Amino acid sequence: MRLADESAVQSGYVTPFTGCCNVVRAGRRPYNPPRMAWTSLCELGDLNEGAGKYVEVGGLRLAVFLHRGKVHTMDNYCPHAGGNMAGGYVEEGCAICPWHHWAFRLDTGHLRDTTAVQIPIYPTRLLERDGHPTLVQADLP
Ligand code: FES
Repeated sequence: MRLADESAVQSGYVTPFTGCCNVVRAGRRPYNPPRMAWTSLCELGDLNEGAGKYVEVGGLRLAVFLHRGKVHTMDNYCPHAGGNMAGGYVEEGCAICPWHHWAFRLDTGHLRDTTAVQIPIYPTRLLERDGHPTLVQADLP
């Protein structure tokens, strides 16, 4: 197998393999790191109905919301101008960005009135544990 040199990587011809050994291999598909799967973000008691909570985990900056007993997770970065979604609030099933009040659907991440703009969202669940606080978990990439 031919190993690519650094100039080949910089040209975009090959993608560096960033796994366990930092070996660069020509002709390989981009490395897709394993999913983090269900990751604990906070305890349910840390959330307030209708308000966002900022969580940073695994290099992701997230906004977590509690709305009508369900938990939702989306990227914290508003695609309009970078507003802090966790600083927003929930209105009619949408997370409202605190900067210019764009409304993103909690269930899809789309803007309320169009699918043209979307914030990444992540499946989110509650994990109940005997004798311990309920955890909020998200299925993260
Ligand atoms: S930055 Fe979010 S609406 Fe403008």
